[in-house]
Amino acid sequence: MNKDKKYYIIGNWKMNPENKKDAKKIFGEIKKASQRRRSKIIICPPFVYLNAMYTGRLPKSLSIGAQNCFWKERGSFTGEISPTQLVDMKVEYVILGHSERRTLGEDDGLVSKKIKALLSNGLRPIVCVGESERDGDGRYLNFLESQLDTVFSDVVSAELDRVVIAYEPVWAIGKNEDDAITGHSLYEIVILIKRFLSRKYGKERGFSVPIIYGGSVSPSNAEGILGEGNADGLLIGRESLDPKSFSKIIELADNL
Ligand code: 13P
Repeated sequence: MNKDKKYYIIGNWKMNPENKKDAKKIFGEIKKASQRRRSKIIICPPFVYLNAMYTGRLPKSLSIGAQNCFWKERGSFTGEISPTQLVDMKVEYVILGHSERRTLGEDDGLVSKKIKALLSNGLRPIVCVGESERDGDGRYLNFLESQLDTVFSDVVSAELDRVVIAYEPVWAIGKNEDDAITGHSLYEIVILIKRFLSRKYGKERGFSVPIIYGGSVSPSNAEGILGEGNADGLLIGRESLDPKSFSKIIELADNL
């Protein structure tokens, strides 16, 4: 057991559930399971439910996040939500550059602008990177490096302690739990990301950035991913909408 390690257990609800009543119910159960936890638990509901998450005081270990954010603070940008508006909603963390947003047209350049805007407003970006597929000769590793290069192009060393990196390979998202990455394979990526960061920001700062994994995480594979994979946490889609599963994962992380 590594009592010093604090894992990030993050729920990305995506465009779920279908109504506020269900959102409040799921959140209420997760809130109960989050009391007195060592892990940092973050729930990222759709924007429209953010307000409903703040009924009563939240446990210290539980925070609220958003799933996206625009890079301007105000203006004529129909349908967008600004960093200042999220701060006003008491949001602390924001998922950025999720592959499902990239499919809708977001690219590394835009993600880079958004990171900068969040950091300037005191928010904490959870930056998603990851390849679509793997090839036999390691081109996916170059892809990952170039993605990191662009999205971190404007992030300065002093801002780094507010960043979380989520490695989410597209091929592992929304699949069966057996299709998630193996701990061994994740370990290789964690090293690559740490190497990239320490080259750019120095070893001490580079190594302090939490690197988490997302893609078909469940209670049965979470332990191996965190342990053998040497990840600092998990970004969980479907299983974060099932309070029993999600609570089980929180418990596993707390006891690791
Ligand atoms: P699943 O856990 O449903 O595969 O989703 C992963 C994800 O995209 C989290 O951001």
